[in-house]
Amino acid sequence: MKFSEFFIPTLKEEPGEAEISSHALSLRAGLIRKIASGIYSFLPLGLRVLRKIEEIVRQEMDNAGAIELFLPVLQPSDLWEKSGRWKEYGPEMFRLKDRNKRDFCLGPTHEELITYLAYLDLKSYKDLPVNLYQIQVKFRDEMRPRYGLLRAREFIMKDSYSFCRNDDSLDIIYKKMYNAYCRILERIGLRYRVVEADTGLIGGSSSHEFIILAENGEDKLVFCPECGYSANLEVSGSSPGGGSGSCVNCGKNLKTEKGIEIGHIFKLGSKYSDRLDARFVDVDGKQKPLIMGCYGIGITRMLAAAIEQMHDSKGIVWPVSIAPFAVNLIVTTGKNEEFLKAGDLVYRILTGLDVEVLYDDREVNAGIKFKDSDLIGIPIRFILGRKFLDNKLIDVEYRKDGKKMELSLDSIPGFIKKLNTANNLKSPLNE
Ligand SMILES: Nc1ncnc2c1ncn2[C@@H]1O[C@H](COP(=O)(O)OP(=O)(O)OP(=O)(O)O)[C@@H](O)[C@H]1O
Ligand SMILES: [Mg+2]
Ligand SMILES: [Zn+2]
Repeated sequence: MKFSEFFIPTLKEEPGEAEISSHALSLRAGLIRKIASGIYSFLPLGLRVLRKIEEIVRQEMDNAGAIELFLPVLQPSDLWEKSGRWKEYGPEMFRLKDRNKRDFCLGPTHEELITYLAYLDLKSYKDLPVNLYQIQVKFRDEMRPRYGLLRAREFIMKDSYSFCRNDDSLDIIYKKMYNAYCRILERIGLRYRVVEADTGLIGGSSSHEFIILAENGEDKLVFCPECGYSANLEVSGSSPGGGSGSCVNCGKNLKTEKGIEIGHIFKLGSKYSDRLDARFVDVDGKQKPLIMGCYGIGITRMLAAAIEQMHDSKGIVWPVSIAPFAVNLIVTTGKNEEFLKAGDLVYRILTGLDVEVLYDDREVNAGIKFKDSDLIGIPIRFILGRKFLDNKLIDVEYRKDGKKMELSLDSIPGFIKKLNTANNLKSPLNE
C-alpha cells in the first residue's frame, strides 16, 4: 500500500478528550474517530488491525471446535421477558419500538437469542454437544463510556455459547475455551492473567476473567508470585483499599495488579434453558434442560488494550501479530525520481514476498515520515536514503527496541523468511 494513496489522517496534537494513552494514540495514529460518546468509526488502518484480531480469534475458535454463525442485532423483547432480563438489564440496554409499537432492543449480549435457536433445533442428545460463536457488534448504554474503545457503547465482541447434555460435557468445552483464550492472547503477544471471577448479571456457577495487564486498567486483581494463584479483588476477599492480604493456597503475600478485562467465560448451567424452555431428550428418554456455557472476548477492546500495553512516548508499538502492516518502507525524499525508483523496486520485492508493506512515498520531509512511522508503530522500518543510491544498502530498524541493521537487496528474501519463522510475521490474513 502506498501511503500517498491510502487514508491515514494522523494528528500532531494530543487530543484534549483522551484520558489515557491508548485512547490518544488510536486517535492520533488515525485508527478511529469519535462520532458520539462511546461510538467510533474505524478508519482503514484501524480496520486492518481489527481484521487481524478477528482472524486470530476465529482461527482459535475453529481449532477449539466452535462453529461460526451470525445472529441479529435487533432482538424482540419477548425473549428477554422470558429470561427475566428485560427488566433486570435496566438502562444499559438500548431499547426501541417498531412501527407497530412492539418492543425491541439492540443486543447487549446474545444468551436469549441463542437459547431460542437451541429451543428450535437442539432436540436430542445426538445433537450435543455443540458450541456456536459469532463475531458481532454489541450495544450497551454504558453509564460512563470512556477511554475510547475500552468502554464504548457500540463495540465488537466474539461471543460463543455451548450446549451440553451434562456438567461433565460442559467442563470439557469450558476447558477448551479457556485454553483457546490463552492461545489468542499468547499469539497476539499480550501479558495477561486469568482470574476467578464473579458471575454477575449473567448468572451461573463458575467464571474466569482474562485480564490484560496495564497500569491504567480499571480492573484490579491479586496475584501470588509464589504459587501463581490469581483472582479479581472481589473474589479474593482482599480489601480494595489497603493491603492485598495473603494467598488462600500458600499463605504468602499477594501482589495487587491492574489490568483490562478482555475476556470472560461462564458456566451457565440451565439458567437460560429453563427459562426459555430449551430441552432435549437424553439417552434415558427423559426431557432435560440444555446445560450451557458462554464465552465472550472483546475484539475492539483488544485493539485498545494492546496499545495500552504496547506503546512508548513516540507512539504505538504493534506486535507483529496484529500490526496493520509488517514493514514501513520509507524513502527519505519523495521528490527525487532516483529515490522513488529505488523505493518502487524495494516495494515490488517486498510485496512479491507477500509482505504487507506501507510504502511512504509522500512528498513530505523525512522528519515527518519518521514521526508518523513511530506513531503508527509498524514493527519494521526499511529506510531508503543516500546510502542506498551509493551502496545499495537499506537501513532496517525495529520499532520496538530501535535495533538497526543494514540489508542488501539480495538478502531481503532471506531476511523476510527468517522473520516469518521467528515471529509468525505472516499475518493470519495471508495464510
Ligand atoms: N463497553 C464495552 N466496550 C468495549 N468492550 C466491552 C464493553 N463491555 C464488554 N466488553 C467486552 O466484551 C467482553 C465480554 O463481555 P462481558 O459482558 O463479560 O463484559 P462485562 O463484564 O460487562 O465487562 P466490564 O466489567 O468491563 O463492563 C468483555 O470482556 C470485554 O472485552
Ligand atoms: Mg459491563
Ligand atoms: Zn500462593
